Amino acid sequence: MSEIKVIITADGSHSLLNEALDETYHSRHGAVQESEYVFIEKGVKFFIDSGQKESVSILEIGFGTGLNALLTANISEKKKINIGYSTLETFPLTEEIWSRLNYSTEKLLFNKLHSSAWNKWVEITSNFKLFKREESLQTANLGSQQFDLIYFDAFAPNKQPEMWEHAMLEKIEQSMKSGAVFVTYCAKGQLKRDLKSLGLVVESLSGPPGKREMVRAIKI
Ligand SMILES: C[S@@+](CC[C@H](N)C(=O)[O-])C[C@H]1O[C@@H](n2cnc3c(N)ncnc32)[C@H](O)[C@@H]1O
Repeated sequence: MSEIKVIITADGSHSLLNEALDETYHSRHGAVQESEYVFIEKGVKFFIDSGQKESVSILEIGFGTGLNALLTANISEKKKINIGYSTLETFPLTEEIWSRLNYSTEKLLFNKLHSSAWNKWVEITSNFKLFKREESLQTANLGSQQFDLIYFDAFAPNKQPEMWEHAMLEKIEQSMKSGAVFVTYCAKGQLKRDLKSLGLVVESLSGPPGKREMVRAIKI
């Protein structure tokens, strides 16, 4: 596995630097701030608040530090809503790395997210079930009409272009239910054109601090 370093971002929260790619796992302007804004505010809260939802099925591309999973588990508890959270990851972090991350006062929950078994459903709390799939987006069978919400949190297109190829986005679009929402921190024109060509309704939203835009797309 490539060299991974813990770094501190501008809001005081940790992120990781993948030295081989020269790419961080989150915005250097603030890791927690970015995840809270892009995936929680514009993603899961938007989806829950847009209708009577009793449960939400989420697919994340890139489990990484587990920060998005942690923040989403907190929402499931707060809103008393059942969340099934599937996440793909090809390079699970070692405990030596994840145990140093400063994301939570609820260490028990964060530890449980990381130490739970891979490749099966695990009940993390009564409202939050986790399925960590040690599998690449390229090889994963995502099925058809499975998910309400996609957290697309891959490394940036200039660092890992194969994650953003049309065929990958098409596979994801097929896995989305009607009415499902796709969110990502990225706002590249090519991404927006590709999502539109797949029939999604694409919105450019203001980005988190330090970033002009982000993208949300809805399957109608
Ligand atoms: C931007 S980082 C992760 C962000 C993560 N959601 C977090 O909050 O830490 C991208 C993640 O995608 C993972 N990844 C890289 N290639 C992948 C692939 N082909 N399929 C699935 N995940 C991949 C990386 O190992 C990394 O953990």
